Formats: sequence, structure tokens, C-alpha cells
Amino acid sequence: MYPRQALERLHEYVPGERRAGVLKLSSNENPLGPSPRAIEQLRSSAAEAHIYPDGAARQLRERLARQLSVPADQVITGNGSDELMVYAAAAYLNPGDIAVIARHTFSVYAFATNLFDGRVITTEMPHGRHDPDAFVATLRAQPRTRLLFVCNPNNPTGTCLSRGELEHILDQTPAETLVILDEAYCEYMDPSDASDGPALIRRYPNLLVLRTFSKIYGLAGLRVGYGMAQREIIRTLNKVKLPFNTSLVAQAAAAAALDDDGFVRRSLETNLSGRGRLYGELERRGLTYYRTQANFICINVRSDARAFAEQMAANGVTIRPLTSFGLDDCIRVTIGTGQQIDAFLRALDSTLASIRRSADAPAD
Ligand SMILES: Cc1ncc(COP(=O)(O)O)c(C=O)c1O
Repeated sequence: MYPRQALERLHEYVPGERRAGVLKLSSNENPLGPSPRAIEQLRSSAAEAHIYPDGAARQLRERLARQLSVPADQVITGNGSDELMVYAAAAYLNPGDIAVIARHTFSVYAFATNLFDGRVITTEMPHGRHDPDAFVATLRAQPRTRLLFVCNPNNPTGTCLSRGELEHILDQTPAETLVILDEAYCEYMDPSDASDGPALIRRYPNLLVLRTFSKIYGLAGLRVGYGMAQREIIRTLNKVKLPFNTSLVAQAAAAAALDDDGFVRRSLETNLSGRGRLYGELERRGLTYYRTQANFICINVRSDARAFAEQMAANGVTIRPLTSFGLDDCIRVTIGTGQQIDAFLRALDSTLASIRRSADAPAD
């Protein structure tokens, strides 16, 4: 058998680990659990699990449309927003076409590109931030660019573009390049930096904004994401969409989660207070980090991140080593509840102490 040649550039995704009895802070999930309204809805929808879902997810799209003030036919739902990235590559990349992607960012962009025989061109990220001028220069130098992925806030650094920087990129992107603005963590952003997705899609006909229910709504296990764009893009994506890509229970629970303002507020408050506390604790330990506008933080541990993560797991907490993101001495940690942060700090201190001990040990 001969798998397609493109598969030579693909590797199996290695998800954040889940070990029994170990606190998982490796996948940027909501530390408060799922939205309670979503759970209630899940229970009542379970009785209808024998029927196929509405393939067009009408009710959920209409609910999203109301929330976003965009027409429902400018919204598409996905089995997680990562499915919509794959749809974008399926719809817009011919073999050999280029996708421009920052060097230290979410891996699914390169996966989707490689899956459809596209070519990835990366741009540097000084100080862990997207470089708008590097994006624009690369687009000029590479006229075969069909996709530009912009992760804002960026996973794994948590850094953000300002509104002005984002608009500069959009203004300078040629009309034949689709910009995919991935806003998986936008609800955590400082209001002064948060961009207005619906206003942007009205202005830019080559923009697709992606968001998800996996983070602030606490529904990562249900797999629901959505995209908004002008009609032509949504129509195009619908051509490559699987007929029943989001499940019946997931659609219902996601719609309920949108109404759970109290849960969203608590999630945001937990994140902001945890973030402030972590900044102080890391500074006290002399560790550097990127200031984050997401629900995770990227920390430089000044040692091999994989070995560090192994040691952290042995001390009861899984975190994400950023080796596969090209940041060999950095880890990414979900900002947890107060108790989770206590556990993280205990594991961190034990890990730092054992690394210091092995550095001090005399060589044989
Ligand atoms: C930047 C970014 N985009 C998208 C996703 C995927 O979201 P979903 O669970 O909706 O597929 C993640 C998940 O961690 C992410 O970090």
C-alpha cells in the first residue's frame, strides 16, 4: 500500500497527557469544569441521542448569530475549531500553495497545510510575539500564499497583537490570501486589545475568524468550535464539511453555554486572579515568562523542557514542554484554580530543587 506522499511530512499529534492521580495543566482547559448550564442541557439532550443531529446546526448558529450580531449564514460550526482549520486548507489549498505560519504557534495550522500538500513558510516571532512586518514581507515575497494563520492570543506564548497591528496585517494581505484569525482564547483578552471579529469580517472579505467552546465555556470534550466570515467563504467551507460534523448533544450544550454568563464571568475572574498570582510567584523564583492574555502561561525554565515536564509529572502535575513548538527550554502551564496553583508551585519547587541538585552533583 502507498499512503500519499504528503503523509511523509505528517506526524501523529501527541496530546497533553492525562495520568491517574496527576493534576493536568497541560492542555489549556477550563479549571472550573464545564458550564453548569451546558451539563443540564447535555442531560436532557441525551434522550435524543438516537437521532442524527441537524447537520446545519441551525439553532446553534442562530444563537451565535444573535450573540455576534452577524447573519446566521455567515457562521459555520465545527467539531472543534481545529476541524475548521482543516476545512480551510481543504477548500483553499492546491498542492504546492503556501500557508504562512508563525514559528512558535498552534500545530494544527501546519498539519492542515501539509495534509493538503501545501507548503509551510514560517515567520520569526521576536519576544514571543507575531511580527506584523514579517507577515507582510513574507506575503509580498510569496505570491502563491493562499492561507495566513494568525493566532491571537498566540498559543503557546499567550502574547497578542494590538488592534492596529492586526488591521495592518489585514490591510496589507492580498485579496487572494485567506487570513485565518484564530481567536480560541479571545474571551480572556484585555478588553483594550480584544478585536471585534464581527466588525472585521464585515470589512475584510478574505477573513475567517475562528473561536471555540473548548476554553472559557469549558466544553473541550464535546468538540465544538465556530467560524465567521463573509458568505462566500462560509459557502465554500460548507462544500468540504462532513454532513454531521457536530453532534446533537454538543450543539445543544454549546448553545446553553452561551447563555451561562455567570460561568463565563467566574472563569475569567479565576484566570485573572491566578495570572496575577503566578506572575508574582514566578518573579520571586527568578523565572521569566511572557505576559499572557490567555488561560495559560509560557515559562522559561532554563533547562530541557522535556526532562522538566517528566520531573513535574513525577511531582504530580502535567504541564506542556514546548519542544515541539520550537521552544526547547520553555513550558506552558494552564492557569488553574487557587488550589491547582498551590499544587503547581509545590511541584515546581521540587522540580527546580532536583534540577539544581543534579547540576551541583560532581561529574563522575
Ligand atoms: C490556538 C488554538 N486554536 C484552536 C484550538 C483548538 O480548539 P478546539 O478544541 O475548538 O479544536 C486550540 C486548542 O488548544 C488552540 O490552542
